[in-house]
Amino acid sequence: MKIISAEFVKSAFKPEDYPSNSYPEVAFAGRSNVGKSSLINTLVNRKNLARISSTPGRTQAINFFCLNHRIFLVDLPGYGYAKVPVEIKRQWKPMVEAYLKKRGRLKLVVVIIDARREPSTDDINLMEWLRFYKIPVLVVLTKIDKIPPAQRIPSKLKTQKILHLDDRQIVLFSAVTGEGKDELWKKILENL
Ligand code: GTP
Ligand code: MG
Repeated sequence: MKIISAEFVKSAFKPEDYPSNSYPEVAFAGRSNVGKSSLINTLVNRKNLARISSTPGRTQAINFFCLNHRIFLVDLPGYGYAKVPVEIKRQWKPMVEAYLKKRGRLKLVVVIIDARREPSTDDINLMEWLRFYKIPVLVVLTKIDKIPPAQRIPSKLKTQKILHLDDRQIVLFSAVTGEGKDELWKKILENL
């Protein structure tokens, strides 16, 4: 994918605040600190478009980025971080579910999981929920640079099994090395 322009459009907490342009959207979900913002930055060849936090749980609104005046990339707030204030945790579910459920132009949700960990209960619940609403899903195992080469295939197969994915629905990725970027773009574009 050739990136001609990439810009932050807005942060939204409720449907009235979503951008009104009717471009197709790809949303990125995953637990706090898993590397969602880094993955978006890698996809668009920018160091700091989606803010990267060293403090987990930073991205707490739904952030919309526009690419080539053609596609929206949507950074959803991360889940599962214990230190997030109770009030914010309570808002997460209705906020994200309202987005996922009612956004007709949403074409794909990329669920991001740390390659070093097994999918969490939150990841599994999200996957079941997306299946129930028939929203196409792609799983990315990120931070693949952190695991030894011999563990890649086992880690991939294990995730596939736990989440009931076929081979085409899972991509190994690293924001550090850029591995998996082209494959991920290809699969994203197939769904638009
Ligand atoms: P929140 O928005 O806070 O939920 O986090 P996030 O999911 O957007 O994660 P973010 O991109 O901010 O990255 C979290 C941390 O992981 C940062 O310190 C990143 O530098 C690091 N990180 C992200 N992707 C990778 C990767 O592929 N490999 C390695 N080694 N580190 C990564
Ligand atoms: Mg983030």
